[in-house]
Amino acid sequence: MSLPILKFEAVIVGGGGAGLRAALQLSEAGIKTVVLSKVFPTRSHTAAAQGGISAALGNIEDDNWHWHMYDTVKGADWLGDQDAIEFMCRQAVDAVVELEHYGMPFDRLENGKIYQRPFGGHMANFGKQPVRRACCVADRTGHAMLHALYQRNVKANTKFFVEWMALDLIRNENGDVVGVTALEMETGQVYVIQAKAVLFATGGAGRIFQSSTNAFINTGDGVGITLRAGLPVEDIEFWQFHPTGLAGAGVLITEGVRGEGGYLLNANGERFMERYAPTAKDLASRDVVSRAMQIEINEGRGCGPNKDYVLLKLDHLGVEVIDQRLPGIREIALQFLGIDPIKEPIPVVPTCHYMMGGIPTNYKGEVVAPFGANKEEVVKGFYAAGECACASVHGANRLGTNSLLDLVVFGKSAGNSMIKFIREHDLEYKELPKDAGEFSLQRVQKIDASTSGESLAELRHEMQRIMQQHAGVFRTQKVLMDGIEKIEALYARAQNLYIKDKSKVFNTARVEALEFINTIEVALATMICAEARKESRGAQAREDYPERDDANFMCHTLFYRDGRKIIYKDVHVAPLTVDYIPPAKRVY
Ligand code: FUM
Repeated sequence: MSLPILKFEAVIVGGGGAGLRAALQLSEAGIKTVVLSKVFPTRSHTAAAQGGISAALGNIEDDNWHWHMYDTVKGADWLGDQDAIEFMCRQAVDAVVELEHYGMPFDRLENGKIYQRPFGGHMANFGKQPVRRACCVADRTGHAMLHALYQRNVKANTKFFVEWMALDLIRNENGDVVGVTALEMETGQVYVIQAKAVLFATGGAGRIFQSSTNAFINTGDGVGITLRAGLPVEDIEFWQFHPTGLAGAGVLITEGVRGEGGYLLNANGERFMERYAPTAKDLASRDVVSRAMQIEINEGRGCGPNKDYVLLKLDHLGVEVIDQRLPGIREIALQFLGIDPIKEPIPVVPTCHYMMGGIPTNYKGEVVAPFGANKEEVVKGFYAAGECACASVHGANRLGTNSLLDLVVFGKSAGNSMIKFIREHDLEYKELPKDAGEFSLQRVQKIDASTSGESLAELRHEMQRIMQQHAGVFRTQKVLMDGIEKIEALYARAQNLYIKDKSKVFNTARVEALEFINTIEVALATMICAEARKESRGAQAREDYPERDDANFMCHTLFYRDGRKIIYKDVHVAPLTVDYIPPAKRVY
């Protein structure tokens, strides 16, 4: 059966910050561009980013991009690529000014300059003392960014296919990417979209965990599709647990609370971070704070009837600061727990927040994969940016506010690379393979034809439980080995999914089944790579291998779905222009 074919020079999958920034670059250059998004673009998960976007503007005290670069390399526990990190930190100031010119309503200082707040791991003078580097729009920074970028795209005539889900990449016999298949949710129709260049900006996959700050749409579609297309994913074992997820609900309580002067307390009323990070205290990097919280809870100093959370105190900031700088978190605490933070502390727990790994790219946004002796051959026609990509600027642990920065810097960079590719090398559309779309169609038909089988809700619940128990803040060999066995069993069951509703129009059961098939790929890859990395680095805390092992593991993991194969590749230790920042013990 032949599928309808649409043609666009550039296809962007994902309507969050990275996708919108790339689309803007392309549309303004006159490239015929479409953005496919599962939700209306301003509802993308970027909207959930609260606390800020980092840039060494130095509006309040001295700062510069090189200190920002140092902090990012250190925050990443020396797994970040230093060329990409230099690129991002150097671009940061221009990126924020550009957003300001797009109409993003940043908070202001009395003198009219952009207000900046401190954030975890961002320090002055090569790690000496905290610095105010996070530019914010109260605690709704991502939301404001999305609206500014969306409006700019409307002006630039970017085309949007809203409530469309990408299914698979289309690669030709040379392995070049020549399009994608996608499902239009409104009709249930599967399309082939032929393209000269495809960008994935599909966001994260935090829904693999039970407790997560992530939106329901964060199902790892880009990573799942990439793995199915025979390409590897990078450093997928590294998952960030944000220290302050609302206890019981998982909703994000921004690190901006601690940036504004809030702090954590255990059941004894002790400001325990002073013991774990004497200089940065509550503003140490997220992996350090999350581990400290978990230790406090594990050792019986947690709060509440079950001693299973700690408290985030901010009432001393005063109602004026809370209402001006943190109105969103006051609303969240009131709505979800009935707690007003101007009077009482907020119960918080470490909660899955961010996927440091993803589709391997260079700092130009080009997807790279091993080919022969070259471990970083460019996959022609394929680009990735944002959380689904691994550039790798965040290495083993991302600093807060570097995510919004990553979206706009690498969205723009990937957009520029696509323009160059389309203009210079690839003026014509490459021919589609004869069976283009068949694979996707068969996958959808298999789900539609199911008359019995596994319940999606049950499998998803089970996966989240296993991930939480076997790949959480602390990991061991035994726990991970058991986790692999359980996830492999679940993976096998997921081949036999059953959905009752067979209708075509807005069939959310079908969409969720297709999403789950991606999510389980991410879960399995995470578990296998975490077991193989026998060291502690950044967000991967192995109780049985408590030290960082630079001799054996200062390298990126590449995982292939077929054969569950792992290979390692070198970290880019050489920056673009400055001296390399050598590994050191990571203390805050
Ligand atoms: O805590 C926060 O506001 C989250 C920011 C981030 O993940 O960058």
